[in-house]
Amino acid sequence: MKLTRKVTAMALASMMVFSMAACGGSDSAPETTTAAAAETTTAAAAAETTAAATEAAEKDAETTAEAAGGAGGNIGVCIYKFDDAFMTTYRNALQEILEGKGYTVTVMDGKNDQAEQNNQINNFIAQEVDALIINPVMTSAADQIIATVKDAGIPTVLINREPTAEQMSAYDKLVYVGCDARQSGTMQGELILDTPNKGDINGDGKVSYIMIQGDPENVDAQYRTEFSVKALTDAGMEVEELDLQRGDWDRNKGQEIAQNDLAKFGNDIEVIFCNNDDMAIGALQAIQAAGRKVNEDIYLVGVDALDAALNEVVNGNMTGTVLNDANGQAAGAVEAMEALLGGKTYAAGEQSIYVDYVKVTPENAADFQ
Ligand code: GAL
Repeated sequence: MKLTRKVTAMALASMMVFSMAACGGSDSAPETTTAAAAETTTAAAAAETTAAATEAAEKDAETTAEAAGGAGGNIGVCIYKFDDAFMTTYRNALQEILEGKGYTVTVMDGKNDQAEQNNQINNFIAQEVDALIINPVMTSAADQIIATVKDAGIPTVLINREPTAEQMSAYDKLVYVGCDARQSGTMQGELILDTPNKGDINGDGKVSYIMIQGDPENVDAQYRTEFSVKALTDAGMEVEELDLQRGDWDRNKGQEIAQNDLAKFGNDIEVIFCNNDDMAIGALQAIQAAGRKVNEDIYLVGVDALDAALNEVVNGNMTGTVLNDANGQAAGAVEAMEALLGGKTYAAGEQSIYVDYVKVTPENAADFQ
C-alpha cells in the first residue's frame, strides 16, 4: 500500500513530464536547442583550460539560456501571496519546471490584494507575455480576470482557486488546473473514521469537533469544511460542531483559534479539523500548551502534507494529513499551458483538470518526506 501510493504519485508526475515531452509542436524546439547547446558548452569548457575560455563559455551558456527563453516564450506567473506556506512550495515547483524547459519566467506576489494583482496582470499583458499562469487573489474576481485575458487573447492557466465552469466557459483558451477539494475533505473525515473510536474519544455517541477554516471565499475552504464532516455523517456518526472559525490558512490564526477553543470547551473537543497544515501546526502548538496529547485525547488533521506536518504525522503529533500535490499540479499547469500554446482550445465544461489528493498517515508519511 505504502509503496503503491508513492509509486502512484511519482508515476503521475513522470506521466505528466512524459506527456509534456511527447506533446511536441513548438515546445519541443527550445528543449532540443537547450540540450544541444548545453552539450556544446560543456564540451567547450572541458577542452579549454584558461580562465578566459571558461568565462567565454559561461557567457555562451547565458546567451543560450536567453535564446531558449525567447524561443520557449515569456511566461507571467501571478501568485495570490508569497507569504503562504503551500503556495511557496507550489510556486517554486512551477518556476523550476518552467525554467528547466527554457522559458523566461516572471513570478509576481499579489500580496493578497486583488487590485495589486490586476495591475500585475495588466503589466504582463502590456509586456506581451506568451502565456499567463494565475492563482487569483479572490475567486470572486474570476469574471474580471477571465474577461481581461480574453480581451488580450493570452492563453491562461488558472491555478489553486477554482472558478465555476460557467465563468471559465467565457474563454476557450483558459483552463483550470488544481484538485477537487471535496476529495481532500472526504479524506480528512476518513482519517478520523480510521481511528480506533472513529473520533468519539469520550464514547458519548457523537464526535465533537472544532473546524478551523481557510479563507471562506475559497472553494477549497468551503468543500473541505463540508466534506470532512460529511464523511463522518455518511458513515453513520453523529457530530457536534463546537466552533467554526476562519483562520485564513495562517499558522498564527490557527494557534489562536485552537487556544481559545481549548480554553472554552476543554476536553469536550475530540477532533480539530484544519483546512490546511499550516493552521494545524498552529493548532498543535495550542494543543501541546494545553497539555493535551494528539491521538490519545484529541485528534488533529490538516491538508497539504507540508514537510512540518509530515514530521508531526510521523511523530504522532498529528493524526494525519492529505497530500496536496504541488509538484503534480505545477507539472499539470505547465502541461496545460503548453497545450494552449500549441493551439489547443478547451470546450465549456472541460476546463478543469484535477490532480488527485492522497491520504497521509504515519504508515505512508515517510514516502512524501
Ligand atoms: C489550498 C492550500 C492552502 C492554501 C490555499 C491558498 O489549496 O491547502 O494551504 O495554500 O490553497 O489558496
